[in-house]
Amino acid sequence: MCGIVGYVGPRSAQDTVIDGLRRLEYRGYDSAGVAVVRDGLLAVEKRAGKLANLEKVLIEAPLPRADIGIGHTRWATHGPPNDVNAHPHAGGARRVALVHNGIIENFVELRGRVEADDHVLLSETDTEIVAHLVELQVQSGVDIVTAMQRVCQQLDGAFTLVAIDSHEPDKIVAARRNSPLVVGLGDGENFLGSDVAAFIEFTREALELGQDQIVVMTRDEVLVTDFWGNPVQARQFHVDWDLSAAEKDGHDWFMRKEIFEQPRAVADSLIGRRTAAGKLQLDEMRLADEELRDIDKIIIIACGTSFYAGMVAKYAIEHWTRTPVEVELASEFRYRDPIIDATTLIVAISQSGETADTLQAIRHARSQKAKVLAICNTNGSSIPRESDAVIYTHAGPEIGVASTKGFLTQLVACYLLALYMAQVKGTRFGDEIDEVMRQLEAMPDHIDKVLQGAEQVYELARSHVGSRSVLFLGRHAGYPVALEGALKLKELAYIHAEGFAAGELKHGPIALVEDGLPVLCVVPPRGRDHLHDKMVSGIQEVRARGAHTICLAEEGDTSIEPYADHLIRLPGVPVLLQPLVAIVPLQLFACELATALGHDVDQPRNLAKSVTVE
Ligand code: M6R
Repeated sequence: MCGIVGYVGPRSAQDTVIDGLRRLEYRGYDSAGVAVVRDGLLAVEKRAGKLANLEKVLIEAPLPRADIGIGHTRWATHGPPNDVNAHPHAGGARRVALVHNGIIENFVELRGRVEADDHVLLSETDTEIVAHLVELQVQSGVDIVTAMQRVCQQLDGAFTLVAIDSHEPDKIVAARRNSPLVVGLGDGENFLGSDVAAFIEFTREALELGQDQIVVMTRDEVLVTDFWGNPVQARQFHVDWDLSAAEKDGHDWFMRKEIFEQPRAVADSLIGRRTAAGKLQLDEMRLADEELRDIDKIIIIACGTSFYAGMVAKYAIEHWTRTPVEVELASEFRYRDPIIDATTLIVAISQSGETADTLQAIRHARSQKAKVLAICNTNGSSIPRESDAVIYTHAGPEIGVASTKGFLTQLVACYLLALYMAQVKGTRFGDEIDEVMRQLEAMPDHIDKVLQGAEQVYELARSHVGSRSVLFLGRHAGYPVALEGALKLKELAYIHAEGFAAGELKHGPIALVEDGLPVLCVVPPRGRDHLHDKMVSGIQEVRARGAHTICLAEEGDTSIEPYADHLIRLPGVPVLLQPLVAIVPLQLFACELATALGHDVDQPRNLAKSVTVE
């Protein structure tokens, strides 16, 4: 949601900023803009719609060549996505330009103040008010850094702000509260980005900004302070992926590339998790074994796909550790007065590490003395930074808005957590844990095998371009897979899709079944006969009412053949691990169907990759 870029150095500021914005496109946006300073003057260009609209204008009339610039992709909150509401916004005297990610909650009061001062506001945004406030400060004689400090002290809400002042053309100043921002450290040049993708082409050294901090950046210096000007030490980190990881690698969509990267992502997420003696170790786990032994309840909080990973985790953690687990949508968690204390472990799952609902939920949990463990894919992001412990997922950058490898690697991290807790609590024998680890280590090959059958799934998807509604059924760990399969289809193909626990069908949803309705069914492995046979009965029930059944069942399962109009084979794996293979055909199905419908798979309408507002 909203992408921010800043640059100071010898390259063309306009081009470097536009490059950075292109790498942040995946975050979701509906307008874009850039501002530079040259010869004491501000030049701004901005356009509604995709970055290409802005680039077209800049080809015809480039901004002056400058070595300092800021840019923004906006996901509309206050006011519709049009040229005027697009960022950057300038103050009334066009001395200061400013971009913003987040929501200023006291903007009505601030707007009143600015308008009372005879300022004319051109847009409907909260951001323009901040631009005016900063400009008022510099016009009163203070420098841009002091101006930013004073303004930040007046703001409520969530914000990343980045500003340039045409009277101080050597520096960029930025501030962050509850919204992401990282600094890229170059040689004789420096960068700002909503995430490291913005500058990964130029540097892999980065600085993590903390809550309520301000950074001032020139070509050769980066200084971080709090909102009151006190210096603070920011954490430097090295980005362990490079530009090629952020490119499409010959695929038509980032999403498709990321689906095919899943065997590698799962393998990477398993690397280094065992000692030479074969015991599980979680390096970033900053909770002591005694603390884990004292945990008597786990609450998993997450949103969207991460929430479904949490639902699978519940089955695994309860089975292997006998510790009760609740799974809760992060956006609901705070509002139900949850019962938590020092013996509750909160597991916050987030690919981006910046989801506002999840961040606010962990803050609430920590205020109630609960321990928080983050499962996250993004080093330097807010959620792991504010947690007591973290398990990183090592999926590499996920650019497609629809999560794929993020989900699979979250599942791996959840299994590892469950097994680690079983080891610490002694609820499973060492050889049982070893056996599951061996099965997990075989999963990349199984996923690869499913991917080899992609063409069959694509054909099936293309034959469904006319479908208006699709149901997904699953049981046990296959139920969250059904929900995730439906979410993928909604997000990408804009088709009505719903996932159900198969046993719940006859309590209502079966009324939806009519002739020809496609129903995708995740069939549990045969080892757990009670589950498998119940699922087969559910499939018979919908088929008897005219549904077109597409069954995902393990190789050799012939019992399903009479009831499947279409059969997709899965490798034989244990029921708890089956989500790692069963979701893959559903991802391929949604990706291909959306492609056939002519949709933008990487940037579906109305969606943002990282939802940084509540
Ligand atoms: O970055 P997070 O994992 O916290 O994001 C959570 C959801 O916003 C995310 O999973 C969303 O549902 C995706 N679009 C799913 O494909």
